[in-house]
Amino acid sequence: MTAVTSENRRSQTAATKMIIRDAGDADLPAIIDIYNAAIATRMATAQLDPVTLEERRDWLKEHSPDRHPFWVLETDGRIAGWLSLKPFAPRCAYRGTAEISVYVDEKFRRRGVARRLLEEAIARSPSLGITAIVGLIFGQNDPSLKLFEQLGFQRWGLLPGIARLEDVERDLIVMGRRCPARDDTITGLTLQRTGPMSSNSQLNDCLNLMHTLMQYRQEPIHAELLKIRDKHSMLHLDVLILIYHFAKICMGQIVEVGAFVGGATIAAAFGVRDSGKRKALIAIEQGGSLKHKRLGTRNILRDLERNLARRRVSEMVTLIKGHSFDPGTIAAVRQTVGSDEIGLLILDADAAKQREIDCYRDKLADGCWMVIDDYYGPAADSKITPARADVDALVAAGCLQLLGFYGWSTWVGRWRGCAAEVIC
Ligand SMILES: C[S@@+](CC[C@H](N)C(=O)[O-])C[C@H]1O[C@@H](n2cnc3c(N)ncnc32)[C@H](O)[C@@H]1O
Repeated sequence: MTAVTSENRRSQTAATKMIIRDAGDADLPAIIDIYNAAIATRMATAQLDPVTLEERRDWLKEHSPDRHPFWVLETDGRIAGWLSLKPFAPRCAYRGTAEISVYVDEKFRRRGVARRLLEEAIARSPSLGITAIVGLIFGQNDPSLKLFEQLGFQRWGLLPGIARLEDVERDLIVMGRRCPARDDTITGLTLQRTGPMSSNSQLNDCLNLMHTLMQYRQEPIHAELLKIRDKHSMLHLDVLILIYHFAKICMGQIVEVGAFVGGATIAAAFGVRDSGKRKALIAIEQGGSLKHKRLGTRNILRDLERNLARRRVSEMVTLIKGHSFDPGTIAAVRQTVGSDEIGLLILDADAAKQREIDCYRDKLADGCWMVIDDYYGPAADSKITPARADVDALVAAGCLQLLGFYGWSTWVGRWRGCAAEVIC
């Protein structure tokens, strides 16, 4: 039996344990229910009629755990999704290529179930003797195409109008991925890998972000944020621009830990303003005073409130005064976020980056933008060393995807829906 599990020891929050294991006959009813629900959507499979237990009694026997497995993902004792690998084509030359299928119970959507299953398949493919995986996905199935792309699959083929569902012709896209991915090293720089994330897609994401930053240099917001940076921020202008950009494009709410006198808070507020959408922007600050040549203050909270008011963003910011780790602070943040998710998390307080993430990891949207300061600095620095260790551990576990290092000391990337069984 294949079982991948362990307790999430550190998370204080109610992260759910996920177990991936070989499917057994007892799982067949749940597997079939999930499949039949997918058939009805006309989005995910060319099968048009529901299947029955009787017809599919031998389904699992067509698979072998050591070559072409059929897995289920179980959470809280319930089957949340399944994945199967089967030979792509019978000819010998294709023996290293497998076709992948993944289905998720509607009740467990948006919890990273498909991603977790796909990541496991990619990670395990070398030991299964699989050198390439293909997924056959209908052209209108954007969520699946996006997920596959995020996991390093590329469009290897298009079969136009090849399927007819009801009276509508559907394109079939062949998404393919080599296992392991090729081109790990580009111009001598070995990319930091985030679990099974393909280096090509990761590199594209990094370059896209750099390109975005360059474009902002030609826009009025650049000058606007330059003033904010000079008057109210310890962060580099590039980082403020990225915070503005993420706040503008992110889905979900925004949480900032360590607002100081408001530089990054104002940048994020401008992003929300320019998005034209309603998003909560929660800023946590403990207060105090600071001796600093440019930004010295006797009263951080007083100056923070004053700066937010001057920039006309007070109304947009929910300011939580207190230590980020106080239960009252955490409860207040959670209450403000409500049933929504966090789409941008800015960490610029103390060194305990993982502690902050643990407070909200169940609220982080998959793909949540992450801006984490204090990643670079003198090797012996008491803040940098533990901060970097926390971030590196999360990257190594595949929880965080690196998109670049910016400014003086800032790590930028995305939350990749830490699977609950990974100990970060
Ligand atoms: C480096 S400054 C933040 C700079 C700010 N991001 C900017 O744009 O200039 C760090 C801030 O985090 C606050 N802070 C440190 N630890 C904290 C904690 N555990 N909870 C809340 N605030 C904290 C400090 O009071 C300080 O104002």
